Order: sequence, then C-alpha cells, then structure tokens
Amino acid sequence: MVHNPNEMGDLDGPVLPPDFLVKRPRRLRRTDALRRLVRETELSRNDLILPLFVVEGSGVRSEVSSMPGVYRESIDRLAETCREAEQLGLPGVILFGVPDEKDAEGSYSWSSDGIVQRALETIARTSPNLLRIADVCFCEYTDHGHCGPLDEHGQVDNDATLGNLQLQAMSLADAGAQVLAPSGMMDGMVAMIRDALDGGGHSDAAILSYAVKYASGFYGPFRDAAGSTPSFGDRNGYQMDPANAREALREARLDVEQGADMLMVKPAMPYLDIVRRVKDTFDLPLCAYQVSGEYAMIKAAVRNGWLNEERVMRESLTCIKRAGADFILTYYAREMARLLKP
Ligand code: PBG
Repeated sequence: MVHNPNEMGDLDGPVLPPDFLVKRPRRLRRTDALRRLVRETELSRNDLILPLFVVEGSGVRSEVSSMPGVYRESIDRLAETCREAEQLGLPGVILFGVPDEKDAEGSYSWSSDGIVQRALETIARTSPNLLRIADVCFCEYTDHGHCGPLDEHGQVDNDATLGNLQLQAMSLADAGAQVLAPSGMMDGMVAMIRDALDGGGHSDAAILSYAVKYASGFYGPFRDAAGSTPSFGDRNGYQMDPANAREALREARLDVEQGADMLMVKPAMPYLDIVRRVKDTFDLPLCAYQVSGEYAMIKAAVRNGWLNEERVMRESLTCIKRAGADFILTYYAREMARLLKP
C-alpha cells in the first residue's frame, strides 16, 4: 500500500518528498489509447506541401544525388507525380524550375513559354484540384546564380529585381499559379507583386511570402538540384543572419503590412524558436520549410543505419507543427502522407 520509499524506510532507493509521488505524469503515457487521447499535436495530410523540380525534355526522372527519393522531372513525369500527390491527399505542390536558358537577369523566368509556366498549364489540366504554388525567384534563371540582376558592385540590385519579380509573378499567375511564393528576400517584394497581380486581373492569387529566410548552409542540396549555386560570393547580403531573431519579426511585419496572405520561416528545424515567435506575433497562416539539407541529413543517417527513417520523419514534422507551423513544405510529403490516415 505504501509506495513512498521514504515512508517505507527504504534508504537504498531515491529519497523523494511524498508530494512528488502523488503527481505522476507517466499515468497518461501508459497505453497507446491514453497517449492518443491527450496528444496535443496531430499531423495531417492537409499540412504537407510537396516541392517539385521541373526540367526540359520528356520521360526524364533523374534522382538528385544528395536527396535520395527526390527527382528532377520533365513535365510529363511531373504530371504523374502530381496525380499521385493528389491521390495521397496532399493539398498542393510548389514548383521550382530548372531551366536550360540563363542570362544576367533571369528573363526566361517570365517567358510565357517558360518551364514552370508550361508545367503549371499541364497540371492545371491533369490534377485540377491540386493547389499550384510557384516559387518566385531568379537564382535558377541567372547565369551568375544570384536572386536578381547585379549592380556595378556585384550586389543584387534590390529595386531592379522588384520590377522583374512583377513580370515573373504575373507570368506565373497567367499560367495558372494560384499561390505565388517570392523567396528572394528583396525589400518591398510583397507590395510590388501584390500591386502587379491586382492590376493584372489576379486579385485572387495569394502570396505566400518567404518572409523569414535565413542565409543557411542547409540549402546546399537544393542548389545542386536546381542548379542555383551562386557562381561567386554568397547570399548574406539579402538573406537573414542565422544569429537574428528580433529581425525575423521585423521582416514578417513588413510583409504583413505589404499584403502577404501567408508567411514562411525557412529553414525549419534549426529555427523552431523563430517559428514560435512569428506564430505568436502574427495571425496569418504560417508555414515552415523543412529544407533540402534537413532532408538530406536524415536520409544520410538512415542510409548508414544510424536513424530510423519513419520515426525521425514523423518526429521532425510533428515538432515543426508543434512549434507553430500551420503547414510544412517538405520533401517527405508523400512518404509521410502514406503513413497518415486520410
Ligand atoms: C530560392 C530558393 C532556395 C530554396 C528555396 N527557394 C535556395 C536558396 O535560397 O539558395 C531552398 C530550399 C531547400 O533547400 O530545400 N529560389
């Protein structure tokens, strides 16, 4: 009857004050049913968006070497992947173009015949109910790999980039993008894109702003996949310093004021404190991007037999949601959706 080691006079056991043994959180962890009952965060298929890379050609499906299970696909194969995503119950995809043509401005990104534009038109036909999100940036399209045209000092020219962003966003919306996701961290990008969309008959197109995007080493595998590694320098002049948190709130506030419909924090796992702070401060839907390096790290450890993939995938995504993300961009979207109930 008496379970307190103190009262039992069992001096070999831990000596605890009696009150500590009245409150036992372990009671609610005893069975799976109890754990399900008190679970605070439930991951759902509705929370997951699949990033996709689209290349020229047909019948192309080439795996990104640093991202096992992630492919660069031609439009025909991409359409098959989108159908699968739709059948798995994912709400949408975000498209990244890997173009053959590059120049100093990235002008191919606003060609009505561009790679992402054609992909959007196809999947609007083949998977009409899948949400079509388009990344809006230039690093895949410029021959120098930076996110906009350069000024005479070799820095990305913020204000010259804004006009080009308007052209790209309009072109993508014309091709059927329902959500535009500017990822270049240019000052004023949300206001300028909103203005262009509204003036161009696309007031229904939403803006998912990469409002808080850090200059992160975790984008390494993405740059291989998208061919967007800067040919010189780095992105520290426009993306945020990983050391800063208050600045994240300032960035998010500016985008809210400029008319963003949804906000993003990127990367996710090393920045969960930022996800929480943005969530607590603003009332817009918030998304977090589990980026290429986060995915590649898990895959690499799994391949070595060091981590259990199913557990770590589920845990990482659940924790990103627990931190405050309403939805998550993740290369694991399909694998995770297969494990979740509809
Ligand atoms: C820029 C862009 C990047 C990512 C998404 N959009 C790369 C960068 O800023 O260098 C990275 C995504 C990832 O790592 O998965 N267009």
